Order: sequence, then structure tokens, then C-alpha cells
Amino acid sequence: SETLKAAAAPRYFGAALGVPHLLNFTHDPLFDTDAVLQFSGATPENEMKWAYIEPERNVFNFTGGDIVAAFSEANNYVLRGHNLVWYNELAPWVETLTGEDLWNATVNHITTVMTHYKESFNLYCWDVVNEAFNDDGTYRENVWYTQLGSDYVPNAYAVARSVNAPLKLYINDYNTEGINNKSDALLALVQSMKAQDLVDGVGFQCHFIVGELPTDLEENFARFVAAGVEIAVTELDIRMNLPPSEADIVQQAKDYATVMNACTAQGAACVGVTTWGITDLYSWVPSTFPGTGYALLFDDNYVPKSAYNSTIYALRG
Ligand code: G3I
Repeated sequence: SETLKAAAAPRYFGAALGVPHLLNFTHDPLFDTDAVLQFSGATPENEMKWAYIEPERNVFNFTGGDIVAAFSEANNYVLRGHNLVWYNELAPWVETLTGEDLWNATVNHITTVMTHYKESFNLYCWDVVNEAFNDDGTYRENVWYTQLGSDYVPNAYAVARSVNAPLKLYINDYNTEGINNKSDALLALVQSMKAQDLVDGVGFQCHFIVGELPTDLEENFARFVAAGVEIAVTELDIRMNLPPSEADIVQQAKDYATVMNACTAQGAACVGVTTWGITDLYSWVPSTFPGTGYALLFDDNYVPKSAYNSTIYALRG
């Protein structure tokens, strides 16, 4: 029967997987028999973030990340490493560091985490720096920017390249899906880093609101592809007010198709799509934006939505 992964091939179709949910999933017959087989990619939802993986300086805990990686490998998924340098879910000790000490800790983090995964699992890529920009296109004032200036970004990629040269290095962000100040700034940075062979891919998170997709999604993706990098849709979900109205359900199906079409329009340069979870039951959306949800392709009971059908139809072309 039809699956997301078959429709998406040769691209991958992935989902964010979290250990707490994964442990439930694997005891859930619906997940075992159907949902796992729908996908060909995975991103650990939280497990590879700094706060979990290096909670104290030079004390590394790969347990959660390894569970997701092992599950992913057992199912032949394309695995995205997420992420190495991010202001959120950052271990508190990092934010107390200054200057060269901060940089040394950052080099140690990137090197140790990438080396562990290089030796243990077969990752497709790493999101090296996540969410570097503000919406107005200025640099986000995280601890690295404040202490080290904007050079922290290319410098982090240079470290990552030196640890694992063939691995694809991504920069990942949100509100960069359409043409705007933020995506202009990202594009300029990508062009500069690409010229130095520091970056290979751009991840567009795509946390959308139903009916509010940027109208220039395809055009924006194309200008990044023209810069010589590959792209991926990395965290797709399309939320709506709860309970979902019939009109929003119809619009959501159209919106998912719009995202697929923007990807396939880039040909081989758009390598895959990842939804930020499988079922609404475990989605981050309702706790962050109360009163909204119904954002993924499977509802709380793993029943595929209209958007599931429109996604497959659009991917088939
Ligand atoms: O692990 C603690 C647990 O011990 C505690 O009891 C519980 C109480 O709140 O919190 C747990 O941590 C939560 C963590 O998810 C694991 O469940 C954090 O509070 C919560 O903030 C965290 O949210 C995650 C968020 O990133 C921040 O890291 C979401 O699950 C995750 O979906 C979300 O994903 C991000 C991407 O990485 C980057 N792009 C945006 C996207 C959505 O925010």
C-alpha cells in the first residue's frame, strides 16, 4: 500500500522522534505496524541538544541520542543530527562562560559529539548552528554572538568540517521560508560560507499556521539552491485553532501540498522532508501555542488526515 516514504523517494520522508514517545511507540501496535513503515528519516526531537548531551562541562551523556539513532538505523532511516550550537535547551553552565573559554568549550562540544556519532552511527547531516538570526535579519544575541561576535558561525562550521569532512553540514532556521529580512540575512551568510566550503545544506523548519504560508516559498527555496547548497524541509507542521474546522482541515491539506510542491520543484536539490513528529498526540504545538494543534499528518489516534493524502499526491507529482 501507499506510504509517505514511497511517494517521497528518492527523497527521504522523516519525522522528529523523541525517546519518551519512542518508548511508547514501540509498545504501540499501531506504531509498530504502520507508522514506522511510513517514514524513511528521523531527527531526534531533543536528545542531541546541548542541555541533554553535555549537561555539565565535559560530562557527556549520549544515552537518549543513541536510542533514537539505533531506532533510526534499525529502520534504515536517514538520520539528521540536531543540533550542536543553539541558544535554547543550552546547558546553563555554557552561558556563564566568556571569551576564549566559551570558544574552547564550544570546540570541545562539537568535536566530542560529532566524533561519538561518527564512530557509532551513520548520520546524514548535522544542524551545526540552529536559529542564528532574529526576524529583522540581525544576529540573535545568544552567548556566542555576545562573547565572540558573528564569526562564531563560520568558525563553528570550520570545526565541524575538521571533525567529519564528508558529513553534510546544515544551517537551520524558522521564518526563513519566504523572502524577508531574515532569509536575506541567512542567504548572505550561506553564500559566504559556501564560498569557503563550510556549509552544504539549509534547513527550513516550516512551523506554519494553516492558511498563512509564505506565497514565495518556492521562489525562496530556489534562490538558496542557486547559491549551490542543498535544502530540506526539516520541522514541518501546520497548526490550526482547536477544535479543527472543516475549512481548516481542507486548507491544511492544500498547505501540505504547497510545501511538497516547493520542495519537488527544486529537483534533486531538495533532499527530504521531515515533519516535527508523527502523531498530534506528542506534538510540541499545543503546549507552546495553547488552543492550537492538529498540526501533523496523523491525528491523536494515528489516523491519517486529508493532509496525508494531499502530501502523497503532491509528492507523486
Ligand atoms: O526533560 C524535561 C523534563 O525533565 C521536565 O519534567 C519537563 C517539564 O517541563 O520538561 C522536559 O524538558 C522539555 C523538553 O522539551 C523535553 O520534553 C522542555 O521543557 C521543553 O521546552 C522541550 O521542548 C522542546 C523544544 O524544542 C525546546 O528544546 C520541544 O519538545 C521540541 O519539539 C522543540 O523543537 C524545536 C527544534 O528543536 C528547533 N526548532 C523549533 C522546534 C519547536 O520549538
